[in-house]
Amino acid sequence: MSFDITITTDQLSKYYGSIRGVENISIKVPAGGVGFLGPNGAGKTTLIRTLLGIIRPTKGTAHVLGYDIKSDINQIRDRIGYIPEFNTAFIPDMTAMKFIAFCGRMNGLSGAESKQRASDSLYYVGLGEERYRKLGTFSLGMKQKVKLASALVHDPEIIIADEPTNGLDPNGRIQMLDLIRNLQTDQNKHVILSSHLLRDVEQTTDYAIVFSEGEILAQGRIKDLTSGRSTSISVKVKNNEEQFINSLKNDGLEVWVEGGYIEVTKSVNIEKVIFRTAYEAGAEIRYFGSRSRTLEDVFVDLFKDKEGIQ
Ligand SMILES: Nc1ncnc2c1ncn2[C@@H]1O[C@H](COP(=O)(O)OP(=O)(O)OP(=O)(O)O)[C@@H](O)[C@H]1O
Ligand SMILES: [Mg+2]
Repeated sequence: MSFDITITTDQLSKYYGSIRGVENISIKVPAGGVGFLGPNGAGKTTLIRTLLGIIRPTKGTAHVLGYDIKSDINQIRDRIGYIPEFNTAFIPDMTAMKFIAFCGRMNGLSGAESKQRASDSLYYVGLGEERYRKLGTFSLGMKQKVKLASALVHDPEIIIADEPTNGLDPNGRIQMLDLIRNLQTDQNKHVILSSHLLRDVEQTTDYAIVFSEGEILAQGRIKDLTSGRSTSISVKVKNNEEQFINSLKNDGLEVWVEGGYIEVTKSVNIEKVIFRTAYEAGAEIRYFGSRSRTLEDVFVDLFKDKEGIQ
């Protein structure tokens, strides 16, 4: 069965005593790749653990691939591969192959199936050659890949990776994000990447759900989240740049230079004003438009909006 929406939550809340984990979360998670983005303590892990039935919601409901988290948790776990946030306690003397095959058995695979799937999964994450090495000899980056292999062993439809790049060096980080991104295309998996690193999400998924203090701040295609929110126009000119900038300022506009661009705060008829001023100043316009912004910019804006800072 194929799904346009993989996960829905309705007014989902989880309190740890009086501490808010998440509150009144109602989301629809689209198929494909989705980033759960938010700073520390935003509620990402709480939501993930609730969806997996590891913790119970205080209030509200959620469905994963149509299954209810309250009554169908085994069906849900069969269909999710989970890479937990914190280090898995590996048995140092166990080989990678044994460990992943063991995970396969725990997920209900037969002995033969689990061996085959363990081998396939370890090759997929790039540890095929090292599959008979003991886990105790693995680097942190390799251990993260083992965690990914263990999430893949039962061939689940959804992979949820909670901060999978934590502690990795730049190379390890790129490899891990590539693997997670490629799962969407190579293996037709739905992927949820939870991260406080905006760059990680941008590089891995097309869609993001932004969390803050247990609530959802925004959600949408990253392309849409990052466009149309710019409050300034970026301009580049040849000749008489200083005169052009001064004329704009004399017209009462807010102007500054950033990253090699002249930025002008948007206002009514701004386009006309900029072109006329450039003409009068003898400056030739070489670039005019909104520069594409990173999700990081949007993220900062979202937090500003929330805090009431304009
Ligand atoms: N077991 C727990 N007991 C008490 N409070 C908890 C527990 N787990 C999480 N919390 C609290 O719930 C809130 C949400 O935490 P959560 O771990 O879900 O956030 P997160 O977005 O995953 O953060 P991080 O980026 O640090 O992993 C925080 O205030 C946190 O302190
Ligand atoms: Mg977390």
